[in-house]
Amino acid sequence: MDTVRIFDTTLRDGEQSPGISLDVTEKLEIADQLARLGVDVIEAGFPIASDGDFESVEAIAKAVKGPIITALSRTGFKDVDRAWEAVRHAEKPRIHVFIATSKIHMEKKLRMTPEQVKHEAEAAVARAKGYVDDVEFSPEDGYRSDPVFMCEVCQIAVDKGATTLNIPDTVGFAVPEDYGRLIKYVIDTVKGDFVVSTHCHNDLGLAVANSLAGVSNGARQVECAINGLGERAGNAALEEVVMAIRTRRDYFDAVDVNVRSEELSRTSRMVARLTGYHVQYNKAVVGRNAFAHEAGIHQHGVLADRETYEIIDASTVGQEAAQIVLGKHSGRHAFADTLEKMGIHVQGDALNSAFVRFKELADKKVAITDADLEAIIAEELGSGMVHRYGLHELEVRGGTSIPPSARVVLTDADGKIEATGTGDGMIDAAIAAIGAATGVQGTLGNFQVSSVTGGADALGAVAVTVDAEGRKVTGRGVATDVVEASARAYLNAVNKLVRLRGRDEVRETTVGP
Ligand code: KIV
Ligand code: ZN
Repeated sequence: MDTVRIFDTTLRDGEQSPGISLDVTEKLEIADQLARLGVDVIEAGFPIASDGDFESVEAIAKAVKGPIITALSRTGFKDVDRAWEAVRHAEKPRIHVFIATSKIHMEKKLRMTPEQVKHEAEAAVARAKGYVDDVEFSPEDGYRSDPVFMCEVCQIAVDKGATTLNIPDTVGFAVPEDYGRLIKYVIDTVKGDFVVSTHCHNDLGLAVANSLAGVSNGARQVECAINGLGERAGNAALEEVVMAIRTRRDYFDAVDVNVRSEELSRTSRMVARLTGYHVQYNKAVVGRNAFAHEAGIHQHGVLADRETYEIIDASTVGQEAAQIVLGKHSGRHAFADTLEKMGIHVQGDALNSAFVRFKELADKKVAITDADLEAIIAEELGSGMVHRYGLHELEVRGGTSIPPSARVVLTDADGKIEATGTGDGMIDAAIAAIGAATGVQGTLGNFQVSSVTGGADALGAVAVTVDAEGRKVTGRGVATDVVEASARAYLNAVNKLVRLRGRDEVRETTVGP
């Protein structure tokens, strides 16, 4: 049985989705979970793109063990060198070099002749190979390229040492049969020892189908992203590719994947929470309704035998009906123990403040599920640090005839700070009061509300982006009340800003004139 390597590009192609901007700690959290999920390759970023990208790839390369860690690179030597600098500490580093081979990309974007493209590919792969054995090459827009020319470039890359050839359908134009044929053509045409990989975008909703057609025709690596994130309509959804291969063992009888599928739902929730890209309810495999049965006839069937209407056992993807894990009588020990079992490692002050927050919520909500716990921990520890300000009290007034106003009491190391504010609505008033208490006056950008689990006492999760002091930061908050969740999200963003400001001050005093 062959292994199909799962190459996750959530942190690179996925992070290119509009509006997603993850900081280093958030990327590390996702990379850790991807390792736990058992992906074979993590594409951690595009180091030349920005200092932040470089820092994240380097941090992941240093900390995350298990999967191959790769960085993307154009063909310029500066790119290749920077990619190597970022991944070189990894247990298993890889450099992923790409250059476009389609006529339109070569003429309009690169302004290069086909001969120049060949030369670029040759030089870049050789440069990467000088650093590391594991080199991947992608002819960008491969599906729309002349297959003969594309294979000539791929042959050059293999001759220079590339061990993986990835064939991107960059603009999501492929249809399964045709994409499968192209994969077979590459395997039959290019000579050497290499693995062929798929990289399919979802512009026509065919990314997963195309990737699987690639597998049927000999591809042994699939590039995909959690929840199908990625440029425009996204990449092939990792969870769908994995579960198609696992569920249809009868059809994909020659292959398997290394992924621990029970971690799929948790990974999906984490990525949704950190990116702010919510998963549609009816999304295959990880959607909230993927295992819900509404019609009486279906419910009856499932009760008699699950397989009447379910082709996947929910527990194999970690989707069993939101487990009740803790209640208000649970102690600190049980709390810490449950977090450990969920793979969340929290200690010291961070554990204390997370426990206090858990107790506050347990007073309002009868049963705390694992999804609730993840949300609480994300709010308390989103940035891996204990926060400067805590929310002690929030009082809001408003309605159809009373102007909205709010009073907050915050805590910090010096004690308590009280302030009031007014606004267009109660959330606006609460934010104004927090601004007055902390001295941070930001502008609210994105504002998203979702419920963590179902039911009347569901936790509301709010994610906001705040522009202040020339920066944009994301804050998250959870509570059983949406105004409180919003205030917490805003305060969370303020805490991040205050910390970033502190870091800049330290830098200025250490590197200043
Ligand atoms: O879609 C694409 O072509 C890519 C390459 C850089 C692999 O993301
Ligand atoms: Zn892509």
